[in-house]
Amino acid sequence: MKKGLIALVMFAATGLVGCGKESVPSAPAAADPALVARLPADADLARLYEQTCKACHTAPLSGAPQSGRPADWAARLAQGTEILLDHTINGYKGMPPLGSCMDCSEDDFLALIDFMSKAD
Ligand code: HEC
Repeated sequence: MKKGLIALVMFAATGLVGCGKESVPSAPAAADPALVARLPADADLARLYEQTCKACHTAPLSGAPQSGRPADWAARLAQGTEILLDHTINGYKGMPPLGSCMDCSEDDFLALIDFMSKAD
């Protein structure tokens, strides 16, 4: 456990200092506990979110726009709902098809994107 944590910290440090090609100085490397604790109010949606989107969208190192950080989402929302939904269903770069949620409907995806792109 401790070794894993040290490895993770070293990985994070390398990512930030390293060759610096893709480092984004304003993005924190560590997950924000307040954002990790956030859940959709609807119980079914919260369950889908916890099983899928949350793993990446509350882990800055994944490269995913972070849930509860509207600044991460502004440029993505500007693409329009149709493109966002298309990228969610078909996948987009590091974003897996369906966000790994096999049980999610289109309405679920829209509700999840809405939840993740807003702050409380
Ligand atoms: C395995 C990790 C992972 C999971 C699980 C995941 N995402 Fe993502 N998601 C990403 C990454 C990484 C990106 C950023 C892709 C990029 O622009 O490089 C992303 C981007 C997005 C985008 C923005 C796409 C765009 O056009 O900019 C949306 C919308 C999105 N995810 C929705 C979801 C939803 C909804 C779920 C859960 C049903 C989910 N994601 C689950 C990793 C994940």
